[in-house]
Amino acid sequence: MIEIRQFTKLYDQFEAVHGLSLDIEQGDIFGIIGPNGAGKTTTFRFLATLLLPTSGRATLAGFDVVRQVREVRRSMGYMPDSYGVYYGMRVWEFLDFFAASYGVPRAKRRRVIDDLLQLLDLGHKRDDAVQALSRGMRQRLCLAKTLVHDPPVLILDEPASGLDPRARIEIKELLKELRRLGKTILISSHILQELADVCTKVAFLERGRLLAAGDLDVILAQIRRHHILEIRVVGDGAKIIEEIVGAHPSVLNLRHDEGVWVVDFTGGDEEQARLLGELVARGVAVREFHQRRVNLEEAFIKITKGEVI
Ligand SMILES: Nc1ncnc2c1ncn2[C@@H]1O[C@H](COP(=O)(O)OP(=O)(O)O)[C@@H](O)[C@H]1O
Ligand SMILES: [Mg+2]
Repeated sequence: MIEIRQFTKLYDQFEAVHGLSLDIEQGDIFGIIGPNGAGKTTTFRFLATLLLPTSGRATLAGFDVVRQVREVRRSMGYMPDSYGVYYGMRVWEFLDFFAASYGVPRAKRRRVIDDLLQLLDLGHKRDDAVQALSRGMRQRLCLAKTLVHDPPVLILDEPASGLDPRARIEIKELLKELRRLGKTILISSHILQELADVCTKVAFLERGRLLAAGDLDVILAQIRRHHILEIRVVGDGAKIIEEIVGAHPSVLNLRHDEGVWVVDFTGGDEEQARLLGELVARGVAVREFHQRRVNLEEAFIKITKGEVI
């Protein structure tokens, strides 16, 4: 549904995106994950026909995003990361304005708007002023706006950022609903957890470069094989710890950091329990042995670079 080939964008001398190639298939909810400055917005603006590439090309619904601008705009709805508020407009007027801009005939507009307000659970706000909506509602209204011309592709730039947890869940439910309605969705976030339970596939971008892309399940499994164990002992167990933990086949890395032994461990629960048992049996006075929660995106970035976490 979307094909990006060797997309590169320079702002003056600064390379914001470098040789990016990606395939987004019909029916995907495809998440682009990356820290601020990774090049997500630059890529989305290129796909949305708002920015010319320095080199490379892309097609959306079979249309070239540089040469077939009209067709591409008809085929996708773009929700930018920030957008103006239209003061003095009511909710229905806001949608009517965009529907008219997209050439939806007057006779059809009321029906389209009512359907969208219902889909996005904004029916009760129909006659309210846009600026009086909460942030979550405004975000939903903006999503409604991207749907007025019923495009097959949605490009949503950080739609969940700045929302409270409840509003974020609502957005995710909506994305799933839109997928059921046949939409292909490209979405970005700087937080993997924000998208983890809604995306079918993800790509990780850092400083304009693609680190990895693929099925989220496969990637998460890769991350979850790594556990960080923290071990604190009373007295000096250094020699035995290095001998037992350091030589363990499931230990990728062992370091001693301000009184804590930090272990990058790829074994399962039983193996962890056995390791603890062995330390105690060898007389190490273990006073703490626990598994630290890892930050998914940091762990992933490190793993893809072959570093230990
Ligand atoms: N119009 C611009 N002029 C110069 N530099 C820009 C411009 N837009 C973005 N950049 C730079 O390009 C890089 C990527 O930005 P952006 O695509 O907005 O990343 P993201 O959306 O992942 O945060 C950043 O370092 C940013 O400062
Ligand atoms: Mg951005």
